[in-house]
Amino acid sequence: MSLAGKRVLLIVSGGIAAYKALELVRLLRRDGCGVTAVLTQAAEQFVTPLSVQALTEHRVYTNLFSLTDESEMGHIQLSRAADLVVVAPATANILAKMAAGIADDLPTTLLLATDKRVLVAPAMNVRMWEHAATVANMATLMARGVAVVGPDEGAMACNEYGFGRLAEPPSIFAAIRGSLAPGPLAGKHALVTSGPTHEPIDPVRYIANRSSGRQGHAIAAALAALGARVTLVSGPVSVADPAGVEVRHVETAEQMLAACRLALPADVGVFAAAVADWRVAHAADLKLKKTPAGSPPELTLTQNPDILATIAAAGPLRPTLVVGFAAETHDLRMHAEDKRRRKNCDWIVANDVGAGTGIMGGTENEVVLFTEAGAEPWPRAGKDEVARRLAGRIAEALGGGGPTNTGVEIAARTP
Ligand code: C5P
Repeated sequence: MSLAGKRVLLIVSGGIAAYKALELVRLLRRDGCGVTAVLTQAAEQFVTPLSVQALTEHRVYTNLFSLTDESEMGHIQLSRAADLVVVAPATANILAKMAAGIADDLPTTLLLATDKRVLVAPAMNVRMWEHAATVANMATLMARGVAVVGPDEGAMACNEYGFGRLAEPPSIFAAIRGSLAPGPLAGKHALVTSGPTHEPIDPVRYIANRSSGRQGHAIAAALAALGARVTLVSGPVSVADPAGVEVRHVETAEQMLAACRLALPADVGVFAAAVADWRVAHAADLKLKKTPAGSPPELTLTQNPDILATIAAAGPLRPTLVVGFAAETHDLRMHAEDKRRRKNCDWIVANDVGAGTGIMGGTENEVVLFTEAGAEPWPRAGKDEVARRLAGRIAEALGGGGPTNTGVEIAARTP
């Protein structure tokens, strides 16, 4: 989807990453998107209004109390003339003000006055990002329907390492496109896991399973088709990356968990991957060799982290809707209901993968959806069709998006 003819109101708050907002403006303009920029007072310390003006080809707004600003365009109109309000970078300070509804300058007044969808790209020091206050503020904003992109993990300007780096401009651009896309999941972020994991024994051997990734990939594609921004964390598969989806390729369960954590926050998490339950405790650095005596090596296994249960217990960063899978060969209902409770998921999509069903690695699936309301058997269908049906149910549960959504509404609509 092209952004030609769309209008973004870009609020730049103060932080060392503010310079990246210039690159974001360039990407938006190149796609035909109109950009009006507003700088906080602190942002002016990092980028000049003149450089932003040159790139946006529009007047840059900076001060709520400028009479010229008010007479040319009142703050209400400024926020309403846009299709989307983007805060990039969003500092801990502006996020806190947004969560509290404080309006003490032009940018925060615009944010309180807007009736448009809002997307924030947080950027701050890792300790500020992990502080209980910021975590609670993010949860409040997300529950209100504010969309979030990033932050990324990496080295920071303050010489520390961790989460808090501003997402790269192409990722913010993709999130803007997702927020403006038509569809009931526009502005929502979906995290999907798919495929098997490979757990190394030595540099050439690994433990794996028969998962093809077809179901998880189809779910990622179906969610994207409904307008969601999708992060797909995929184990090694031979199916192609779905179009319009951000794919993170991983091999092991530990890498999959790290990639999932990195992708948070998300509105919905769908955990379709067949994660290996165990890994070799100490994978060999060199290829294990056959011994002349012929005795095979002994492999000591250790438990892998449960990705679904870990993300479902991620406190305020837990996705609003958590969907797990249960592949069973017997006592489907008992195992699925037990998993739903034990792993703290909202829904479990359960299927019988017993020998002869042809489901594991095949193109069709026959599932039962377990929710709080009970069990709902779905007819056998292609994995694409099952994915479309599940994506539709997710869109219904998340209430179609928009800035007026609240967590209460989402919870009430979840069957
Ligand atoms: O316990 P079991 O492996 O059957 O649970 C299946 C569900 O848990 C699936 O949604 C799967 O993706 C998830 N899972 C996980 N991490 C694991 C094991 C399972 O996310 N280590």
